[in-house]
Amino acid sequence: MRPLIAPSVLAADFGRLADEVRTVDAAGADWIHVDIMDGRFVPEISFGPAVVKAIRRATEKPLNVHLMVVEPERSLKAYADAGADHLLVQAEPGSTVHLHRTLSQVRELGRRPGVVIDPATPIAWIEHVLHLCDIILVMTVNPGFGGQTFLPEMLPKIAALRALCRERSLAPHIEVDGGQDRDTVAKVVEAGADVIVAGTAIFGEPDYAAAIKTIRESAA
Ligand code: DX5
Ligand code: ZN
Repeated sequence: MRPLIAPSVLAADFGRLADEVRTVDAAGADWIHVDIMDGRFVPEISFGPAVVKAIRRATEKPLNVHLMVVEPERSLKAYADAGADHLLVQAEPGSTVHLHRTLSQVRELGRRPGVVIDPATPIAWIEHVLHLCDIILVMTVNPGFGGQTFLPEMLPKIAALRALCRERSLAPHIEVDGGQDRDTVAKVVEAGADVIVAGTAIFGEPDYAAAIKTIRESAA
């Protein structure tokens, strides 16, 4: 299976963000992964809706917006208005208390809902919302920073999630995020992932098209 590649702009040069987005789009990105960090759910702060709007102007590819924030329900509309196509919320109650309602809100806004689980979060926490999601994002590092090392303990979790979805005749995208590179991609795809987020492995390379090609070919 040919996985979709979603470069994470967290690793881009923010001083030239629009150019970076245009370059990675032309280099073959399928989706653009956009990390929102609020300094509360995770220690760092990235950017908010105004910057998402600027990214929106630089590409027509789907914006895959990952909300690492407390109370995402308060800002879903702002990100939808800014041009997000996918709104992914963390499953942990430290982010949103009423996960089922929050995912339904994304659908009501006309955007594609996704749920994210941290490395320590069991599949059981999302079992009852799977049918609401177009995308399930399995964090393969602890969220908060780019450039961390892939956690191989997440491979059985990806496989179990894919099996559970199949059992229920659900076919969401299973996306992986964190530490993905040419050495990890075949393993996560074999486990059942079909969307690969990569920050450092793309923006840390001089030639984004070559980097995307390497990741794609390593998946095969
Ligand atoms: C981590 C973010 C990731 C990050 C991935 O908290 O959610 O999207 O940008 O970066 P790399 O690919 O460098 O691990
Ligand atoms: Zn992310």
